Amino acid sequence: MAHQMVIVLDFGGQYNQLIARRVRECGVYCEVKPYTAPLEDLKAMNPIGFIFTGGPNSVYAPGAPQADPEIFKLGMPVLGICYGCQLLAHHLGGRVTAAVDDSAREYGKTETFFDTDCKLFKGLPAQGVSWMSHGDYMEKVPEGFRLYAHSAACPNVAIADEARGFYGVQFHPEVNHTEHGTDMIRNFLYEVCGASGDWTMGDYKETAIRQIREKVGGGRVLLALSGGVDSSVAAALVAEAVGSQLTCVFVDHGLMRLNEGDEVENAFRKWNINFVRANAEARFLAKLSGVTEPERKRKIIGEEFIRVFEEEAKKIGRVDYLVQGTIYPDVIESGAGDAAVIKSHHNVGGLPDYVDFKEIIEPLRLLFKDEVRALGRELELPDYLVMRQPFPGPGLAIRCIGDITKEKLDTLRQADYIFREEVANAGLERSMDQYFAVLTNMRSVGVMGDSRTYDYTLALRSVTTSDFMTADWTRIPYEVLDRVSVRIVNEVPHINRIVYDITSKPPATIEWE
Ligand code: XMP
Repeated sequence: MAHQMVIVLDFGGQYNQLIARRVRECGVYCEVKPYTAPLEDLKAMNPIGFIFTGGPNSVYAPGAPQADPEIFKLGMPVLGICYGCQLLAHHLGGRVTAAVDDSAREYGKTETFFDTDCKLFKGLPAQGVSWMSHGDYMEKVPEGFRLYAHSAACPNVAIADEARGFYGVQFHPEVNHTEHGTDMIRNFLYEVCGASGDWTMGDYKETAIRQIREKVGGGRVLLALSGGVDSSVAAALVAEAVGSQLTCVFVDHGLMRLNEGDEVENAFRKWNINFVRANAEARFLAKLSGVTEPERKRKIIGEEFIRVFEEEAKKIGRVDYLVQGTIYPDVIESGAGDAAVIKSHHNVGGLPDYVDFKEIIEPLRLLFKDEVRALGRELELPDYLVMRQPFPGPGLAIRCIGDITKEKLDTLRQADYIFREEVANAGLERSMDQYFAVLTNMRSVGVMGDSRTYDYTLALRSVTTSDFMTADWTRIPYEVLDRVSVRIVNEVPHINRIVYDITSKPPATIEWE
């Protein structure tokens, strides 16, 4: 079944993915396309409406991204957000200028007054906070448009030509700071575009399963399972589609958290697939023996991972398709930027070139992370897999500072488990995006009973973040930190001191290595 679709036309704003996520949360499928995409291609996607994103430019600046003016002749609704709103004005006969004084330049939370006769604000409060971030302002509103919202500084916070289905807002309805922002997007979708809300994970699951079956036919499929959310959900989906034609190779490098390997294996019991767990702990530890330099650790683990996977794949023989757990943010971001390499991330989903196969299947390619989780639930994967926090490919090796031994890893595993358990007991799991223990390589003097100890210092790390590119350290309540500390020093041998990492990213990174 083809879904109704809205196209989010990307003009370079920082919240573009967020807009797309909000649309999908409202039960409408959407895709993000660059503003340079040919109009013919966009038309061929058969959308029910467009959303123009914000962007860093001024519409009148030379070389500023422009919309193809023909887009306004398609008879299709458009919602312009921030820069997108100014584009509407600019193209349809209005005038946009730089705010000459600070009074018309707005940034941050702004008290806003709405005309609820406008379809965009239908059923919502007439007054509320909206999140502004614009330096330009609409000096002249285009013919046919009316003003539908204002703030103290700005008379035209929202404009619309309801007859043509054109709406523009100067603020960002997609960010949480805007009260009822998602409701405004929902109004645009349902009241203006006539959406029916046909994007559900149940539907997606059925469609994806059918497509995978059609594509694979009687072929054989191989998947590298890391135990992370994406590869697990991809595996479950393909398992549901083609059962025993699928082989999942789970390379257990011995650097997982407590019980994690068994949890992954157990979750896949219910499918009749070929599940290979390559217990390679000894191999990995041998290769890592005496290695202390973080990048060397990462390289060794990445290479060894591929070697083990390759050996297992050879045993299977002919393979037609390789499944990868690529998700939509990777697709949108790929090709963008050439930032400095801070850490060489090795992603076990991204296995390339050395196994002979016909084609790669990426069944999650169009899904956001929260949708991947929802799909995982549809497929009845256990919550401990579906809700799993991000875990780096090199695993505990980069949380065990200095050289790695089995004993140190076991110490770290126990401490990390207690930390996670206490976070869960305190009901804080959802407010902490990533949290874990790090076994530092430092030892210090302590006293236990009447004896002197000389043992390791354990660091606790927790971050709150939406994109993992920047992160703040989590303000964990002292009582929770205290419980974690008391339990760890009492229950885990060789740790006599606990510290809490209070650096944000930047300047620190989330992981310690
Ligand atoms: P950093 O430490 O760079 O981490 O702030 C950002 C996010 O990436 C995760 N991470 C990795 N993920 N392979 C991965 O798949 C890796 O090698 C790797 N190193 C870091 C980290 O856990 C955090 O979520």
